Amino acid sequence: MKYLKSKQYDNEFIKENMMGPNSMIILENLLESVPLTSNMRVLDLGCGKGLTSIFLAKEYGVQVFAVDLWISASENYKRFKKMGLDNQIIPIHADAISLPFAEDYFDAVISIDAYHYFGCNETYFDTCLSKLLKKDALIAIGIPGMKYEIHNCIPDEMKPYWEEEALALWNSCDWWEKLLLKSNSFEIKKIHEMDCFNEAWQDWLKTNNRFALEDRLMIETDNGRYMNLISILGNKK
Ligand SMILES: C[S@@+](CC[C@H](N)C(=O)[O-])C[C@H]1O[C@@H](n2cnc3c(N)ncnc32)[C@H](O)[C@@H]1O
Repeated sequence: MKYLKSKQYDNEFIKENMMGPNSMIILENLLESVPLTSNMRVLDLGCGKGLTSIFLAKEYGVQVFAVDLWISASENYKRFKKMGLDNQIIPIHADAISLPFAEDYFDAVISIDAYHYFGCNETYFDTCLSKLLKKDALIAIGIPGMKYEIHNCIPDEMKPYWEEEALALWNSCDWWEKLLLKSNSFEIKKIHEMDCFNEAWQDWLKTNNRFALEDRLMIETDNGRYMNLISILGNKK
């Protein structure tokens, strides 16, 4: 069985707090080759309901700043407190484009299923995020995307399921590489297709979340042809 660490967590708790494909599984897959150590201060950017922050705190013993825009800090604080992790995870309600942190503060930034909402442009990393990271800080991003650039030739059978707004944010590994090569401060280590697509999506589709119910036909119709989960690993220069 794969993703053994994620599978140890209470299934009902995970189901209640997922906001898309299972973020714990994506994180576990993403961090397979990332050397996180317990003395690190980590920014969990776009943490949603904090599943990834909980995983980072429990599995790696790191200090986590759990930042999100749609979910309030108070809601996340209650969840972290209930798990006895409120001293280790600091919930913050903030927009990724104006983060309230000191410069050179973080040893690592992790972002699961969120970076594409704000980082899909040539300026975001260098102007908003880079300055908050220490030199050589780890960058680990896991996001939905495409196996290849598809925007100019959307398959007819997918048109009913892909909303234009979401589709604009789903890009290929090559697209991300080209974008990040333009950055002055992002050193790319590896950008690649992740292994966990099926496991992460199937967990989400089993929930009764109304968005998951809508996603079922999309994943069935896609049938492994176009959609992807992308891992972006790097360091701050
Ligand atoms: C699909 S949810 C994923 C949440 C969580 N990472 C997970 O995988 O369960 C996307 C998250 O990105 C966050 N997000 C989107 N735009 C943001 C922004 N500008 N600043 C901070 N967070 C943002 C949202 O608040 C939302 O919780």
